Amino acid sequence: MPDPILTLADRPVVVIFSGGDAPGMNACLRALTRLGINRHGVPMLVIRNGYKGLVDASREASTAEGLAALKRRIESTTGRYGLIDRNQQMILMDHGAVSAIVRIGGIITGSARCLDFHEPAVRAEAITLLKNLNARGLIVCGGNGSLAGAELIAKESGLRVVGIPATIDNDLNFTEMALGVDTALNTVANVVDNFKDTAKSHRRVMVLETMGRASGELARLAAVASGAEMVVTPKRPLTDADVRKLAETLATGMRQGRSHAIVLVAEGVNFEPEVSRNRAYVLADAFKAYFSETHDLADLEIRPSVLGHLQRGGDASPQDAILAARFADAAMRELLSDNGRSGVTALQHGRVTIVDYDAPDISDREALKADMDELHLILSSW
Ligand code: F6P
Repeated sequence: MPDPILTLADRPVVVIFSGGDAPGMNACLRALTRLGINRHGVPMLVIRNGYKGLVDASREASTAEGLAALKRRIESTTGRYGLIDRNQQMILMDHGAVSAIVRIGGIITGSARCLDFHEPAVRAEAITLLKNLNARGLIVCGGNGSLAGAELIAKESGLRVVGIPATIDNDLNFTEMALGVDTALNTVANVVDNFKDTAKSHRRVMVLETMGRASGELARLAAVASGAEMVVTPKRPLTDADVRKLAETLATGMRQGRSHAIVLVAEGVNFEPEVSRNRAYVLADAFKAYFSETHDLADLEIRPSVLGHLQRGGDASPQDAILAARFADAAMRELLSDNGRSGVTALQHGRVTIVDYDAPDISDREALKADMDELHLILSSW
């Protein structure tokens, strides 16, 4: 069936993917596009390169001629052709444009972090453009910075703005999971398996640094999923004595017959005194120094690795693709229903719901983290 002809005159839903990419974003784009066209019969207008694309387009459209030219371009180069043309900041989507992208990592529209968007005047221009396009509302998919931008637009424009949480950091505490977390966990667990092969062959301690900013969720969950022997997550800054204790724990395990040890350290872990180097290197050096002083483990080899952006890429897991569809479904319904409101999709107790932008953390979030830490400790102790 050919696509129904939907034009800007049918009042588009505008969609932005912003901030760090996360697996599941493409699945979300596909779901939003198809829900918009197939179920709701509304045009879906996606912005390239996050808020940056919106800002660039709003500058171009700041005159009547600029706006008219932008509208003409949007309507003449749609779907796949619009995606291919990198000068086009706003693309009117169709079925074909999102074909076969459901599992692909990253985000095909591109994403960006946009510091300009902190400026009220810049946001005002962007809001003017959204209104000039007669947008029904806006959907923003991204992490905490992107959702903060979404909240500001909602407040300053009166438009309905629905956020969809997507970040491998899982640091949005109003939702059990954000898009991308499950895939990143799969990736880290698989990577740990690879490191284990060498660690076991050479009886080494491998110190692996995970992403996640100030949140230790990726490291915490990956440790349970991969069977890592030790996990270090951000709490209070680690003193020399704390690090020594960690080394002693490793030493005890090795003396009891462990063949190797995998240590996951979250990038947000702090030390006292402060350090600027990657945490994996800092810990590995401290462990090396400790073991070199022991008579029986002086030869134990320590190797650090920073896992970096490989954690953010890769095909979305089925769980992320499913969550993307569920979040997109809830966001579209909320945006288009008569009594909907601005807010963010959230997974709470297994159900997708809409919460306020300033929603409190899930009530038992901290307890769950503590449970997970305890569980890991028990499972990894010899
Ligand atoms: O927020 C996602 C994240 O991958 C963090 O875990 C990491 O600290 C940061 O983004 C890296 O940012 P960038 O891709 O800009 O280097």
